[in-house]
Amino acid sequence: MERTFVMIKPDGVQRGLAGEIISRFERKGLKIVAMKMLWIGRELAEQHYAEHKEKPFFNALIDYITSGPVVAMVVEGRSAVSVVRTMIGKTNPAEAAPGTVRGDLAMDTGRNVVHASDSLQSAEREISLFFKPDEIFDYAKVDEDWVY
Ligand code: PPS
Repeated sequence: MERTFVMIKPDGVQRGLAGEIISRFERKGLKIVAMKMLWIGRELAEQHYAEHKEKPFFNALIDYITSGPVVAMVVEGRSAVSVVRTMIGKTNPAEAAPGTVRGDLAMDTGRNVVHASDSLQSAEREISLFFKPDEIFDYAKVDEDWVY
């Protein structure tokens, strides 16, 4: 099983889409093993997006992600990193396929409602930035035998 980091961005929270987005992951058969609402400060935002520091959109990205509360999650499942990336769709919602979160619920790259780790290595880094080990739960879910 893999774990990946997922964040419903400030626009997703403000537009009341958190439940819809969380529900998609639950219905897929993924397991939420950690979740919290937080309002990210600039320091954490800059750490999270450190690889984009030199990009022209970096300041806009930091302003956006710190503009309101987000919902952060750790999602677990077989091939969770790639499954979740497929489910959220392309970064630019205009190019994201229908049926994906961004394809169905967003219009603009700068307001693309959700983030998910792009690799197992990023997932480990991002999970440890946002969650302490005791905030992540190992538990059995009754439907597991019916999902796999
Ligand atoms: S790159 O250059 O291909 O590595 O960048 P990309 O993967 O397309 O985007 C990296 C993250 O930056 C966000 N992004 C933006 N945010 C706000 N405004 C603008 N203009 C913008 N352009 C890109 C993009 O959504 C990615 O965020 P995450 O949270 O990883 O999806």
